[in-house]
Amino acid sequence: MSACDNKLKQECFRMLEDFIDALPEKEGALISVLHKAQEIFGYLPQEVQTFVAERLDVSLAKVYGVVSFYSFFTMTPKGKYPISVCMGTACYVRGAEKVLKEFQAQLGIGPGETTKDGLFSLDALRCVGACGLAPVVLIGEDVYGKDEAKDVKTLIKKYSELG
Ligand code: FES
Repeated sequence: MSACDNKLKQECFRMLEDFIDALPEKEGALISVLHKAQEIFGYLPQEVQTFVAERLDVSLAKVYGVVSFYSFFTMTPKGKYPISVCMGTACYVRGAEKVLKEFQAQLGIGPGETTKDGLFSLDALRCVGACGLAPVVLIGEDVYGKDEAKDVKTLIKKYSELG
């Protein structure tokens, strides 16, 4: 997932525009366009929602309604180190819920939220296909399993120190 900083923003809007232009029809395409927009921007800030509304010729209220309704859409930028806790069955039975709660307690945020300093965001995922390592925690591109994943304090410290 590539978040667009200011330098790349124009390029990101162009990518989204190309996607919209290539649609066989715009009617009923709102959800797929928003998916694409989130893939490009990493989240759906108001300026992106406005852009989508204008290009698809729907009201901003409608776009906002869809974005708020579906939990897979987010209006909050992800942290520099996005943390994802796998809540699939294998991880769940091996204590994933406790790991997630520990992250919530230590970071003071819930799933779907980002810390004020922008360093961490938290999410719960379905099975990520590494069940042998359960419970599994992903931080950015890094994968942690078993005891390492349960040692929430050390993980947070490690990435906080990277800054
Ligand atoms: S259930 Fe967590 S990796 Fe499969």
